[in-house]
Amino acid sequence: MVDMIIRQEKPADYSEVYELVKKSFATSTNEGEWDYLNEIRKKETFIPELSLVAENDDGKLIGQIVLYRTEITAPDHSYTELLLSPISVHPEYFRRGIARAMIREAFRIAKEMGYQAVFLCGEPSFYHKFGFRPSYEFGIYHIADKNKNAEWCMALELTTGALTGKAGTINIQ
Ligand SMILES: CC(C)(COP(=O)(O)OP(=O)(O)OC[C@H]1O[C@@H](n2cnc3c(N)ncnc32)[C@H](O)[C@@H]1OP(=O)(O)O)[C@@H](O)C(=O)NCCC(=O)NCCS
Repeated sequence: MVDMIIRQEKPADYSEVYELVKKSFATSTNEGEWDYLNEIRKKETFIPELSLVAENDDGKLIGQIVLYRTEITAPDHSYTELLLSPISVHPEYFRRGIARAMIREAFRIAKEMGYQAVFLCGEPSFYHKFGFRPSYEFGIYHIADKNKNAEWCMALELTTGALTGKAGTINIQ
């Protein structure tokens, strides 16, 4: 295990986080996540307490995770939940449990703040490891999911049963 702390991101971290996300996503097919994060921080849905970084012993940032508010739109109501995006780890530190530790800590804080569920779009084989299920299993469909069977749109209940009775649509990236 890497010696590190996981803490709230500060404005002074933004430029280092930008480089970190860029370096990390250069290893994947997703593009533009680094600019996307700058946009998220300006939105009223941004939650500073749920933008976390992992810092190693040398004070270097080796991971980041952001959860921010999103909505389930149901016929006569909308429900506020969370969206996880992005998460990234420095490539030199892949497969050492950093993503898992950041997810655990972010979910602990989110639950403490009263949030009930987390959504995301991503790679099923990775996110199933953390308990994510396709959102269609809860009757919640991504607006682009015409066949209502997308495996890439996923949800996780922070509290068991939190998504019961919240069937609707979700519009996330
Ligand atoms: C995906 C990413 C965040 C994983 O970070 P990590 O710190 O290496 O992950 P961890 O070491 O905590 O691994 C957690 C689990 O996921 C598995 N895992 C790690 N990377 C994986 C991948 N790319 N695909 C599938 N499973 C993966 C690990 O084996 C581990 O499983 P286990 O607990 O059953 O052994 C990292 O590879 C990354 O930053 N990639 C580039 C950015 C990206 O694609 N982000 C996700 C999309 S938003």
